[in-house]
Amino acid sequence: MILGFIGTGKISSSIIYGIFKSKLKVRKIYISSRNTNIAKKLAKKFGQIRVLKDNQEIVDKSSVIFLGITPNVGNKILPKLKFSKNKKIISLISTINLEKLKKFTKLKNIVRATPLPPIEIKRGPIIICPPNKFVKNIFKHLGKVLEIRDEKLSYKFWSTASLMAAYYEILNTSSKWLIKKGINKKFANTYIAELFLALSQDALNKSSQGYKKLVADSQTPKGLNMQVLNELKKGKFFTKFTKALDNVNKRVSK
Ligand SMILES: NC(=O)c1ccc[n+]([C@@H]2O[C@H](COP(=O)([O-])OP(=O)(O)OC[C@H]3O[C@@H](n4cnc5c(N)ncnc54)[C@H](OP(=O)(O)O)[C@@H]3O)[C@@H](O)[C@H]2O)c1
Repeated sequence: MILGFIGTGKISSSIIYGIFKSKLKVRKIYISSRNTNIAKKLAKKFGQIRVLKDNQEIVDKSSVIFLGITPNVGNKILPKLKFSKNKKIISLISTINLEKLKKFTKLKNIVRATPLPPIEIKRGPIIICPPNKFVKNIFKHLGKVLEIRDEKLSYKFWSTASLMAAYYEILNTSSKWLIKKGINKKFANTYIAELFLALSQDALNKSSQGYKKLVADSQTPKGLNMQVLNELKKGKFFTKFTKALDNVNKRVSK
């Protein structure tokens, strides 16, 4: 399989790092020279990678093409590219829908995928829409594939995936707080990562039961967890949290 990446930014490079840690058989990967620094670094690290300046050349030389560009760039460059019928397109672009992608590329079988940066460690959910066996067989090496038929429903995951930075800010705030109280930086950072990793692993193990029980089970009446939860609720933290999800949803559903 020969892969091509139009746009060598954060998500494309995360996928590429994941691929080289996985058992996926790839003969060659063509990547665009943009972003230059990332492209140079990847080409230096992995022998199968070739950097090309021309997006059309990437398309022509690859059998599977990942679109790792922003919507603005996509709207500008995709209508100018020519895709022969045998190409498989995986679009990572957040807000260009399937109808528009089909119009731009004149291809019918396009799949949209929403991987997240932890794909570089072969972890995390990967939404693909519509369901597609070929694309699933690629991504199953790189994380947990979840297939969705309804494109409009697939947008909802863009909202929850947008929690990443806020999640890391919770880790950052917690760790900074410990450091300020006198804990060694390395110790604090390790503690926080291990804490959230353990909570997430436990949540994953118990995901079939839902999360309400975990919220209840982690509080003793009048205990410390209850205090924090109540303070955050009082400050409308979770109302604002849901509002932020609604607002991203409005943006991606346009
Ligand atoms: N980051 C995520 O977690 C994530 C997850 C899933 C999907 N996505 C989606 O994937 C897309 C890319 O996101 P990203 O976070 O990877 O963004 P990014 O880091 O900004 O990458 C975009 C890349 O496109 C390149 N580019 C700009 N103009 C180009 C052109 N004419 N031809 C070829 N490449 C060009 C940029 O190069 P320069 O730096 O040289 O301009 C950059 O390397 C977005 O639509 C985003 O919504 C992102």
